[in-house]
Amino acid sequence: MRIYDIIQKKRDNKQLNMQEIEFVINGYVNGEIEDYQMSAFLMAVYFNGMQDEECANFTKCMLNSGETMDLSEIKGIKVDKHSTGGVGDKTTLIVAPIVAACGAKVAKMSGRGLGHTGGTIDKLESISGVKLDLPKERFFEIVNKVGCCIVSQSGNLVPADKKIYALRDVTATVESMPLIASSIMSKKLASGADCILLDVKVGSGAFMKTKEDAINLSKIMVNIGEHCGKKVVAIITDMNEPLGNAIGNAIEVWEVCKVLKGEGPKDLNDICICLASNMLYLANKGTMEECEKMVLDSIKSGKALEKFKEMISEQGGNLEKFIDADNYNIDFKVKHEVFLGKNGYVSSMDTEKIGKAAMVLGAGRKKKEDKIDYSAGIMLNKKIGDKISGNECFAELYSSSLEKCLEAENILKEAVITSQNSVQEKKLIKAKVVADEVEIF
Ligand code: URA
Repeated sequence: MRIYDIIQKKRDNKQLNMQEIEFVINGYVNGEIEDYQMSAFLMAVYFNGMQDEECANFTKCMLNSGETMDLSEIKGIKVDKHSTGGVGDKTTLIVAPIVAACGAKVAKMSGRGLGHTGGTIDKLESISGVKLDLPKERFFEIVNKVGCCIVSQSGNLVPADKKIYALRDVTATVESMPLIASSIMSKKLASGADCILLDVKVGSGAFMKTKEDAINLSKIMVNIGEHCGKKVVAIITDMNEPLGNAIGNAIEVWEVCKVLKGEGPKDLNDICICLASNMLYLANKGTMEECEKMVLDSIKSGKALEKFKEMISEQGGNLEKFIDADNYNIDFKVKHEVFLGKNGYVSSMDTEKIGKAAMVLGAGRKKKEDKIDYSAGIMLNKKIGDKISGNECFAELYSSSLEKCLEAENILKEAVITSQNSVQEKKLIKAKVVADEVEIF
């Protein structure tokens, strides 16, 4: 077999068989296929896509390139979730303890943020003392005891994705449905859960900008799950504005506690209830209605918050300063208020730009090596549809210097559009994709 012939076949829009796919992935991981050849292959996939079976086989080969987690030492049904990434997305930290409080197990491996999107591991690191690189035995012990534990992704899981993603990032081949789907699903399948809920974000802060694209990506990922014998469901949710009011790291943990106390912002609360109910449903905990009731009860009774405290404490951290504060007041040096100077309604937001403003404040990294300022972030006082007057504070910025706040303020002001007319409320939860069925809301 020659890589030249496989590139040519893909260039001519023909379907590759398992042996050819194995040849590409194994050859690239062990260095026999050069970056320039793999780049040409990825570009051919970008233009011609992949058939369902081809994409499932590509995912299986990626999965087999490294270790896979065997979660059989954890008792009960293990359910995982994955978000395709957004701004202010702290849902994992909310739904994991809710699902654990309702009797299913969440043994979750999460990643760091890069660019405008945040990462769960960075948010957790803002809690002093928390350990995220736990040995497997301790990870399992915490899940068995508490019901949930979140650790950083092991370096040996799906090495093919690490190498291919790095190349996609510099060859303009990230935005390819089969490549995104196989990248996400290989990591999810390697994490070993029995069932997987995908939160596919759509809108100005997401990879997928249209509902149609989000549905197509979801179908591909659900189909890969089917091919690999796992129950996978995708929920398509809105990312046309940041989720909740808080964007950053410590500030998002503070907002997580608000939701678990039953005092969270409506959009974040509603999405978490939907995701947690679907995770419980996937884990066979009851009908959708029963699962939703369990979720609501776990928040009302305080059990979900207790689970979060327990998980953090087992991982070495302490949540007191996050739980006790009514307003965000964690360790920032400078607070700066942003006024839009206009009367009207907030009509749209460029969410990606808002994520960039948070990054400028220090809450995210432009390059992998950048250090995060965990207390930096943005608190939005207004969301899409809210009325605002010129002398009302639109957002508070937190950072280590006024200079960073002023730079972020300019980006934020460019990102927010107001209008004189009131704005129609948009659906937060747009569709659900299960095997062979798409339900549009
Ligand atoms: N997230 C991933 O893990 N991979 C992609 O290709 C895109 C988003």
